[in-house]
Amino acid sequence: MKILVINGPNLNMLGIREKNIYGTQDYKALVEFCEKAGADNGVEITCFQSNHEGSIVDKIQEAYGVYDGIVINPAAYTHTSVAILDAIKAVSIPTVEVHLSNVDEREEFRKISYVRSACVATFYGYGFDGYRMAIEELVKK
Ligand code: DQA
Repeated sequence: MKILVINGPNLNMLGIREKNIYGTQDYKALVEFCEKAGADNGVEITCFQSNHEGSIVDKIQEAYGVYDGIVINPAAYTHTSVAILDAIKAVSIPTVEVHLSNVDEREEFRKISYVRSACVATFYGYGFDGYRMAIEELVKK
């Protein structure tokens, strides 16, 4: 089984950005965490990060016929991107939405997720663990 993990804008700044919200571990640590969670579940993990909406859409399209599942933290694009929603719907690959922080307990605009309706599950507020939960959810399905 192959899972693509996509992280959106500013997640490459983990460990530097708003440590009180996102923690002190950096993006490299997140990649290693996902690879370990994949290995523990017999899954091949590929991680991709981009600050650009179109690159994320391209990556989702390229996943068609290649990956069995997608874990996505679209970051700020969660709250704005119809293009990412449409890409997930277009490829019909089971997709799980993840957020490090508890988006429901922050600003009002973070409660809105454009991608959620196309996702089979959502995990938020669990930090890195949410990615493991997402990988395990896809394995279960
Ligand atoms: C985030 C939450 C988003 O609202 C924010 O724009 C991010 C990260 C999270 O992982 O908690 O960049 O997706």
